[in-house]
Amino acid sequence: MHRRSEPAILYAGTPVVLISTTNTDRSANLAPVSSAWWLGWRCVLGLGTSGRTAANLERGGECVLNLPSSDLAPRVDALARTTSAEEVPERKRRRGYRFDPDKFATAGLTPQPSELVAAPRVRECPIQMEAAVEAVHGVAEDAPELRGRTVAVETRVRRVHAAEEILADGDPDRIDPDRWRPLIMSFQHYYGLEPHPCWTSELARVPKRMYRTADSRAARPEWDRR
Ligand SMILES: Cc1cc2nc3c(=O)[nH]c(=O)nc-3n(C[C@H](O)[C@H](O)[C@H](O)COP(=O)(O)O)c2cc1C
Repeated sequence: MHRRSEPAILYAGTPVVLISTTNTDRSANLAPVSSAWWLGWRCVLGLGTSGRTAANLERGGECVLNLPSSDLAPRVDALARTTSAEEVPERKRRRGYRFDPDKFATAGLTPQPSELVAAPRVRECPIQMEAAVEAVHGVAEDAPELRGRTVAVETRVRRVHAAEEILADGDPDRIDPDRWRPLIMSFQHYYGLEPHPCWTSELARVPKRMYRTADSRAARPEWDRR
């Protein structure tokens, strides 16, 4: 039996991403988000426009998408209810947000220089993606009360860095999902994944190279020129 239900939030379980960007004073910003999904080498991020990160992405046009593993949950959570905006917006203040000028220190995470973008990577995150902003789409533009509050930022991944421990034996271009333990946010709570698949996947039978897109091929020549 299903019951009619009206949950206040509908976040049914997505990986947490720590977005690093550069603030106007060139300091590094770090913000956890869970509204993130990938299509090929594009990642679309759902962001509130009152945050510094959305402004940094629109202005700077680049970022690093750092994916924490589930054991980093306490450090990610240390960033909850923080913002790099000195003037904490009223709606955030009511929810207990505070200004934090050094989120790397607050989270106990280490900045690591990136190769293509100004914002630093997060050393402790097993997957780091340097990315360019390609488009910013308005969300809920049809609703006068919500218009302008959130955006979907379309980014193009330019380079991926993966920790050796999560790579498949003998194949640096394949992340072994048995070794990668993403941090999942489900209805505002942190979860990890079980360390084994719950079913044998039909899609996993398709050769991985058939999933490659022009974006990942375009990223290659830069790599070769290094
Ligand atoms: C686990 C977690 C997930 C979050 N997911 C999102 C999200 O998907 N989109 C968003 O705009 N904010 C999200 N937030 C809140 C932002 O981190 C928050 O707005 C923060 O103030 C942004 O920092 P900034 O103003 O320095 O950019 C999330 C926070 C946490 C702790």
